[in-house]
Amino acid sequence: MNAYQLVKPLLFGLPAETAHDAVHAGMRVAQRTPAARALRDRYVVDDDRLRVDAFGQRFPNPVGVAAGFDKNARVPSLLASLGFGHVEVGGVTAEPQSGNPRPRMFRLREDEAIVNRMGLNNNGADVVGERLAAAAPDAPVPVGVNLAKSEHVSADDAPADYRYTYERVAEGGDFFVVNVSCPNSEGFRELQNRDSMAAILSTLRDAGASPLLVKLSPDLPDPAVEDALDLVTELGLDGVIAANTTTDRPEGLRSHNRAEEGGLSGKPLEPRATGMVRFAAERVDVPVVGVGGVFTAEDAYRKIRAGARVVQLYTGLVYRGPSIARDINEGLLDLLERDGFDSVEDAVGADLD
Ligand SMILES: Cc1cc2nc3c(=O)[nH]c(=O)nc-3n(C[C@H](O)[C@H](O)[C@H](O)COP(=O)(O)O)c2cc1C
Repeated sequence: MNAYQLVKPLLFGLPAETAHDAVHAGMRVAQRTPAARALRDRYVVDDDRLRVDAFGQRFPNPVGVAAGFDKNARVPSLLASLGFGHVEVGGVTAEPQSGNPRPRMFRLREDEAIVNRMGLNNNGADVVGERLAAAAPDAPVPVGVNLAKSEHVSADDAPADYRYTYERVAEGGDFFVVNVSCPNSEGFRELQNRDSMAAILSTLRDAGASPLLVKLSPDLPDPAVEDALDLVTELGLDGVIAANTTTDRPEGLRSHNRAEEGGLSGKPLEPRATGMVRFAAERVDVPVVGVGGVFTAEDAYRKIRAGARVVQLYTGLVYRGPSIARDINEGLLDLLERDGFDSVEDAVGADLD
């Protein structure tokens, strides 16, 4: 029995966001103590075969933390000590935001899923930008920043709003992700229409944002995804992230919390997210980052073979605990060996025609 199996019932006895806050508090303390060193020894899998290069960044392994877990960039270095190969912090908005009223995060235990309607609560670009700039040299892995639109800003004013946020976080970030796919903020996902996206992305490009990626919703119909991917190519973006949470409720969900409003993440999202990785990888030449329902090495490997150079997870960390990155990285090495690949890079897109 590992330590998380002992702690998990206690955490799961608390409301989901309270548990999240408690874990964060513990991480912030641990980050400043020699415990971080002990965690590194326990969880970091150092193996050349796991190394991946994507959009000018060198990732020590392909397993990163998805946006939303460390919204305010407080624990990237501790997450690296848990063996993650990168951390995407945020979503960050220009102004601080308190988000939607609580409760706004719900476990679907029987489904190994979460529904959240956080509503982009965060400390705002000024604070997060300063924190990132001060902490950046500490994090031994690439740190991406998820950029989001402020709640009160209209679609017309969105490009300037994203630009403000980008300029505040530019110094401390290694790559930048345009989030136009959060389902929990009114009108937000409409920014995925071609004109709005083009305006936001080209404004950020002009501001010097690089590497620049866009994160898409799994709820976009295929023609809209195709439009978005065309834009990625036209504007010379550096990567695509597939996918954000879904407002869909796939058949077979058992937990009563499926009725809560918000974006669903975790196991039930995995097939759709992996399908979207494949769809994107077949259509763009830039790296695809795969996220949605990654809990095990097999899940990560499926996304890699479908075309993801890098994967991310959030919900898996909640259900599987702090050993998840190590377990996936060790498992990936076994799977690579089984299938005769020399490295993760070798396996990227192996299932594509
Ligand atoms: C509580 C919560 C908050 C999230 N916040 C953000 C966010 O601010 N920006 C974003 O792009 N994605 C956000 N996400 C989505 C995740 O980054 C990820 O795309 C999604 O959860 C699917 O991955 P998973 O199944 O591994 O959780 C959030 C997810 C959760 C569960």
